[in-house]
Amino acid sequence: MIISAPTDYREAARRRLPPFLFHYIDGGAYAERTLRRNVEDFADIALRQRVLGGVGEVDLTTRLFDETLNLPVVLAPVGLTGMYARRGEVQAARAAASRGVPFTLSTVSVCPISEVAPAIDRPMWFQLYVLRDRGFMKDALERAKAAGVRTLVFTVDMPVPGARYRDAHSGMSGPNAEIRRMIQAMTHPLWAWDVGLRGTPHDLGNVSAYRGRATGLADYIGWLADNFDPSISWKDLQWIRDFWDGPMIIKGILDPEDARDAVRFGADGVVVSNHGGRQLDGVLSSARALPAIAEAVKGELTILADSGIRNGLDVVRAIALGADAVMIGRAFVYALAAGGEAGVANLLDLFAREMRVAMTLTGAKRIADLGPSSLASERQL
Ligand code: FNR
Repeated sequence: MIISAPTDYREAARRRLPPFLFHYIDGGAYAERTLRRNVEDFADIALRQRVLGGVGEVDLTTRLFDETLNLPVVLAPVGLTGMYARRGEVQAARAAASRGVPFTLSTVSVCPISEVAPAIDRPMWFQLYVLRDRGFMKDALERAKAAGVRTLVFTVDMPVPGARYRDAHSGMSGPNAEIRRMIQAMTHPLWAWDVGLRGTPHDLGNVSAYRGRATGLADYIGWLADNFDPSISWKDLQWIRDFWDGPMIIKGILDPEDARDAVRFGADGVVVSNHGGRQLDGVLSSARALPAIAEAVKGELTILADSGIRNGLDVVRAIALGADAVMIGRAFVYALAAGGEAGVANLLDLFAREMRVAMTLTGAKRIADLGPSSLASERQL
């Protein structure tokens, strides 16, 4: 299949993956309205074309937490990434490092911290969920620290898992799930050979490292469901703030009040996110939530945004709306599933190319030049 746009990777991933995996990535919660709006609301934002400003060469680099990024994009934490390509976390991390951007390892990755961190020559970021098992959390933080992780992404929008109805239809869960997954794997031989056979162990690497025994895909949903903690509040996070001396980013902020609480708590950053429309369907899209949050806390901490970023133009839009940088989830997972490390590297190149064109035509030479003035004014829309 010919890949010319970043969004081409979705179809390529759909062809390659057994349906239960494709739909696990592609789907969202309930009727998937927020998922659709995430994408549409970014796409609908009109940029302001400015010409003959003598922009010249565009500089996409940016600084976040004492780190230089070649473009303002971070790979978001995505659970089970090692099921979409062989040792997928390692491949994605290598691609990110080769393009000078951070990779974030999920709590529920297939490859453990100890496999991914040494495979790259820049510090990866690590994402932790709030879980009942505080022993696990402490152990994971210690392992991350020992592996050279400095930036911690703390995800707070999953006190309970959202209902993802597609999973029951696709065979990810529901009746006869195991046999259905087996049949799907057999009918997708490229994936079955590359990941099913050669990509083992299909473990939750960080969880089994803690438990001292293998934990397979079947454990995944049960372990998560048992371990989420709906009673969590800001004061329960204090020990983590005290323990973690590097940058701590709170992921899953959608409201200015919560963003102000994050500042009071002492967070170094927030990710404006609705978890890619996978949690509470019907909440605001990130594109619509972002401006008010930026107005409330811009300059007091670093603002990242995700949920709905599909190409380089969306990155420019998010930064114009007030983000310092973005995270991408599905966009990189589709590319990873379709093309492994080279696919993700190519995706980042396509993002960079699109950003350069968009910045030239909006008259922005540097990332810092992007802002509300890069957008068409309300009355023109
Ligand atoms: C996620 N996301 C996620 N977030 C997190 O903090 N820890 C995790 O383990 C996961 N796992 C996960 C799996 C899959 C399949 C998806 C699609 C997403 C959310 C992710 O970090 C990010 O917030 C969204 O993916 C952003 O939305 P887009 O870019 O996918 O639209």
